[in-house]
Amino acid sequence: MANEKYDLMNDIMSFGIHRLWKKYYSELLEKFHKPSENILDVASGTGDIFFLLNRKKNLFALDPISEMHLKSKDKNQKKNINYKIGYAEKMPYKKNFFQIISCTYGVRNFQNKLKSFKEINRCLKKDGYFLFMEFGNPNKKIFSSSFNFYLENFLPFLGSLIAKDRRSYQYLADSIQKFPNEKSIIKLAKSANLYHEKTIHFLSGANSIYIFKKL
Ligand SMILES: C[S@@+](CC[C@H](N)C(=O)[O-])C[C@H]1O[C@@H](n2cnc3c(N)ncnc32)[C@H](O)[C@@H]1O
Repeated sequence: MANEKYDLMNDIMSFGIHRLWKKYYSELLEKFHKPSENILDVASGTGDIFFLLNRKKNLFALDPISEMHLKSKDKNQKKNINYKIGYAEKMPYKKNFFQIISCTYGVRNFQNKLKSFKEINRCLKKDGYFLFMEFGNPNKKIFSSSFNFYLENFLPFLGSLIAKDRRSYQYLADSIQKFPNEKSIIKLAKSANLYHEKTIHFLSGANSIYIFKKL
């Protein structure tokens, strides 16, 4: 999906709403992050979150795809970001290094979520926070049936039309539908000693922000 249509496709498929959610999310992140401490964006993609974050240093970005970092470097020229290629399952950082670890629309891509959450716990300082935002299945039936129709029909169609890549967008739709519910995510995080503080739902859970703390 690392092509020039990536950002455009995100705008079209979310009708631009993902920008509002990312703005809300980055403002929330600023409330948690102490500027003198290190913050990591896992699955950082094209660098939207650091672009929105009102911080210039102590920024770390991890993503397995080097083209994503290139796009982020282009977008974030005024920021001092330490980029690394790598996976959430095996993070190239020492323990207790970050006050905040953040992830937007990346957790559903983790091949092994428990392993990744344990890595996040290892790299977080005590009293540090793990915040992530992810699409999911809406709780309310009225939302859920239209959302599923959108995922199963409209999204792969858009993918083939605009990005000429139906398969990736079919995968995206499948991974959203398979994303664990809130209860399972909280349980999984607890197994990695990350304790649930709060979940903020948008559109009845079609998009949610999870906040966990390392005690
Ligand atoms: C949908 S994009 C989200 C990018 C960005 N966080 C955003 O909000 O725009 C998902 C990102 O997850 C990355 N990714 C996939 N598998 C990963 C893994 N196991 N660990 C870390 N990042 C991963 C991909 O390379 C991609 O950049």
